[in-house]
Amino acid sequence: MPITVAQTAGFCFGVKRAVDMVYEALDAGKQVCTLGPIIHNPQMVEELSQKGVRIAGRVEDAPRDATLIIRSHGVAGEVYEQIEKAGLGMADATCPFVAKIHQIVAEHSKEGAVILVAGDPEHPEVQGICGHCRGPVYVFKTPEKLQEIAENVPELCEKPVILVSQTTFNKKVWEKSVEMAKKVYTNLKIFDTICSATARRQEEAVSLAEKSDLMIVVGGRHSSNTLKLFDICSSICDTVLIETAKELYAYDFGGKIKVGVTAGASTPAFIIKEVQLTMSEILNNNNIEEDVNFEEALEQSLKSTYNG
Ligand code: F3S
Repeated sequence: MPITVAQTAGFCFGVKRAVDMVYEALDAGKQVCTLGPIIHNPQMVEELSQKGVRIAGRVEDAPRDATLIIRSHGVAGEVYEQIEKAGLGMADATCPFVAKIHQIVAEHSKEGAVILVAGDPEHPEVQGICGHCRGPVYVFKTPEKLQEIAENVPELCEKPVILVSQTTFNKKVWEKSVEMAKKVYTNLKIFDTICSATARRQEEAVSLAEKSDLMIVVGGRHSSNTLKLFDICSSICDTVLIETAKELYAYDFGGKIKVGVTAGASTPAFIIKEVQLTMSEILNNNNIEEDVNFEEALEQSLKSTYNG
C-alpha cells in the first residue's frame, strides 16, 4: 500500500532559482524586498518574512535601501524603468522561459505584428507579457474567447499575428486554440511557450491518479498550476487539495489504499515531506499496512525538486 510521490512534485527550475536568489541576497546581508510574493505559497512566504524579507505591491512601496527581487513570473518593461528611476538595487528572477516570451512579443510587435496570448488575463505572468508588447495585444483563456476576438476585431485577419501562451497554460486548450487560430488567421506564427516542466508535471499527475484511489495535491490555493493539478486529478480519482500537512486530519481516508502525492511548482520540499510523514501516520492509525520507505521517498522528492 504505497504512498507514491510524483517525481515532478514541487519547485520547478524557475521557482527554485527565484527562491535561491532571495536566500543569496539575504546571505549577502542585503535588505530584501520582493515585488509581490516571491511564490504562490503562503508557508514559504511566511518563512521568508520571518527572515526579514518584505513584500512590495508596487516599486514605490519598496524601501529605498532594499534589493528588489523580480519574481519568476516576470514584469512589464516599464517596471524596470521605474526601478531604475527609483535608484533601487534589483535582482531579476524572471524565469528564462518567461523572458524568452518577452523577447518574442517585443520583437514581433515592434515589427507590426498583433500579439495573441493564451492565458489568464489576471495572472501576473500574462500581464508582464502584455507589458512587453509594443502594439496591439489580446488575451484569451478559452477557444470561445479567441473566436469572440476574431469576430469583434476582423481587421486582425489582414495583419501578421503572433500566438504565444502563458507558460502554465493547459495543453489541450492550447491545441484547440491553435486549430481555431489557424483557420482564422492566414498570416499566423505560432510559438508554443508552454513550459515543459508544467506539461511533465501534469502528465505524471494523470498517470499517478490512474493508479491511485486517492490523490493528494499539495500547494497554495492561489497557485494556478496547483489548481490545474487538482482539476486534472479529481477528474480521475478522489482528490484533496491541501496547503499544509495538518489539513490531512480533516479528512476520513478509510478504505483508501493507493495514495499518490503531487505538488505545485511553488510547493517547498519541506511541506511535501511533512505531508508524506503525516499521511503515513494516518494510514498507520487506520491500521493499514503501509510499506513506503520515507527516507527514500523524501530523497527522491528533494532530488526532483532541485533538479527542476
Ligand atoms: Fe519557469 Fe516553467 Fe517554472 S516557465 S517558472 S520553469 S513552470
